[in-house]
Amino acid sequence: MSILDETMVMNDGYEIPKLGLGTWMIDDEVVAQAVRDAVSIGYRHIDTAEGYGNERGVGEGVRTCGVPREELFVTTKLQADFKTYDEAKAAIGESLDLLDIGWIDLMIIHSPQPWAHFHDEDRYFAGNLEAWRALEEAHEAGLIRSIGVSNFEPADLRNILDHGTVRPVVDQVLAHVGNTPFETIDFCREHGILVEAYSPMGHGEILRNPAVIAMAEKYGVTVPQLCIRYTLQLGAVSLPKTANPDHMRSNAEVDFVISDADMDALKNVERVTDYGDSSAFPVYWSKE
Ligand SMILES: NC(=O)c1ccc[n+]([C@@H]2O[C@H](COP(=O)([O-])OP(=O)(O)OC[C@H]3O[C@@H](n4cnc5c(N)ncnc54)[C@H](OP(=O)(O)O)[C@@H]3O)[C@@H](O)[C@H]2O)c1
Repeated sequence: MSILDETMVMNDGYEIPKLGLGTWMIDDEVVAQAVRDAVSIGYRHIDTAEGYGNERGVGEGVRTCGVPREELFVTTKLQADFKTYDEAKAAIGESLDLLDIGWIDLMIIHSPQPWAHFHDEDRYFAGNLEAWRALEEAHEAGLIRSIGVSNFEPADLRNILDHGTVRPVVDQVLAHVGNTPFETIDFCREHGILVEAYSPMGHGEILRNPAVIAMAEKYGVTVPQLCIRYTLQLGAVSLPKTANPDHMRSNAEVDFVISDADMDALKNVERVTDYGDSSAFPVYWSKE
C-alpha cells in the first residue's frame, strides 16, 4: 500500500492522511495547479494557512481536481496574530469564504504567540483560549471538522487541555532530521495528540548535510525520501512542500524502513541552526 493511501485516526475519530502536501510559498495563482497535480498523483491531504495568502487557490484546486470533496483533507491555520475571540471568529469566516469548499477538515492555531513575539516569555494563554473558543464554536457548528494547534509547546498545550472543552487533535511542529522536538512529541503522545511534522526537509536545508546524504545512499533513496520517512517513523504526519510533480511523486515513494540504529543516528544529527535565507522567519529563529 502506498503511503498516500495510509491514514491515522485522530482523537476525535476522524482520519488524517499520513502524507500531506505543504503549500507555503506556492503563490495563489499557481497553487490550484499544484493541488490538481498532487491529487492526480494520489495526495489527499493539502496543508495551507491564512498566512500563506493562497487559500483561494487551494480551494480552486480542491473544487477542480476531479476527486470528490469528502475524499480530500484540507487543513488551514488561524493567523498567529489573532488572539481575541472576535478576531479569530472573523478570520475563520474569511478562511471558509476564501477556500469555498463547504467545510474545513482541520483548522489549527498557527502559533501560540504572534509572529513578532515568537520567542518571548509571554505564552498568550488567555489569547489562545479566546482563539480556541472561536474554533470550538465553528467546530460545534459543523464548519470545521477537527481543531488543533501548531508550534505549541507542552505548557501551551496544557493551557488548552486544562481550560478548553475540546482536546486539540494535532500539534503541527517543526520536526526534521537535525531538529526533532522530543519533549513536545512525548507530551503529545501521552495526551493523544497527533504530531504533524512541518518542514520535514528542514525547509530544504537538510538536503546538503553529508551524514544524511551518506545514509540516503546506503538505503538507495533520495535525501527527501529519507527525511520524510524519518518523520513518519517518529509517528508523525509528514508535510513536505513542493509544486514540482516529479518531487511530489518521489516524495511519496517511502516504502522502506529505517532501522532502529539509523533512526537513533538521525535523531542525533547535529542541530540545524542556519536555515539560510529563511532564517529570518520566526519559526526558524534559534532559541539559543
Ligand atoms: N505550522 C507552521 O508554522 C509551518 C511552518 C513552516 C512550514 N509549514 C508547513 O510545512 C510545509 C513544508 O515545510 P517547508 O515548505 O518549510 O519545507 P520542506 O518541505 O521541508 O522543504 C521544502 C523544500 O524542499 C524542496 N523539495 C521538496 N521535495 C523535493 C525533492 N523531492 N527533491 C528536491 N527538493 C525537494 C522544495 O523545493 P521544490 O519546491 O523545488 O520541490 C523546497 O525548497 C509547508 O509548505 C507548510 O505547509 C508549517
